[in-house]
Amino acid sequence: MIQNYNAKIVWIGRRQLTEEIQSNIDKVAKYGQAPMYISADATDQNQLKNAYNKIIDKWGHVNGIVHSAIVLLDKSLANMIEENFRLGLKTKVNLSVRLSQVFNMQELDFMMYFSSIQSFMKAPGQSNYAAGCVFEDHYAMRMNSENTTLAKVINWSYWGNTGVVSSQEYHERMNKMGMASIETEEAMNVLENLLAGSFNQLTMLKLL
Ligand SMILES: NC(=O)c1ccc[n+]([C@@H]2O[C@H](COP(=O)([O-])OP(=O)(O)OC[C@H]3O[C@@H](n4cnc5c(N)ncnc54)[C@H](OP(=O)(O)O)[C@@H]3O)[C@@H](O)[C@H]2O)c1
Repeated sequence: MIQNYNAKIVWIGRRQLTEEIQSNIDKVAKYGQAPMYISADATDQNQLKNAYNKIIDKWGHVNGIVHSAIVLLDKSLANMIEENFRLGLKTKVNLSVRLSQVFNMQELDFMMYFSSIQSFMKAPGQSNYAAGCVFEDHYAMRMNSENTTLAKVINWSYWGNTGVVSSQEYHERMNKMGMASIETEEAMNVLENLLAGSFNQLTMLKLL
């Protein structure tokens, strides 16, 4: 986004600004404007509202939002404590609703949800996450049916080289399921097609 569109990016995450985050900001800043980092739990309406105010103070408006948050706490239902089930779920459910409550959806060019093929496949141990993804997909559909904003959903399969499942353990698990890793450039092409095209939901599934 920075390299191709000179976009001004705001990155919201719960952590305080760490060296790792700053180093990631520095890496992308060489392509243009450095992302603005705001520490906030986006499931919390007040924290998200404060973040929104900071963004509006600095830039006056928001063109688009990408909901790419996830908290992955895999466990079979029998072994899942309720707190962890809720945390995985609310990162998708509450966060989607908070974004609608805080941001002016009518003014956006798009609202993008990063969802997963878990909406359709339901891998063992991911009931909290799968439930959240199903909610996210349908929430976006409803936004479109009510003309709230242009809501787009991408259901990714598996990113092996970046993100929360880039460990060796997940790599082996995904390989056994016949999944190949999605890579950045091909994924960005799919996102471009999704944003510019007439479909509001696409799945990117890459097999071995
Ligand atoms: N990686 C994959 O293979 C894959 C597959 C299918 C779908 N997806 C989707 O793609 C998206 C990105 O995944 P990823 O692998 O890149 O995950 P990631 O590296 O773990 O990034 C997710 C980010 O969400 C932030 N976050 C979590 N809860 C938050 C909250 N309450 N408020 C603000 N920020 C919060 C976390 O930052 P803090 O800890 O600082 O809050 C974290 O950096 C997710 O939506 C996921 O569902 C990924």
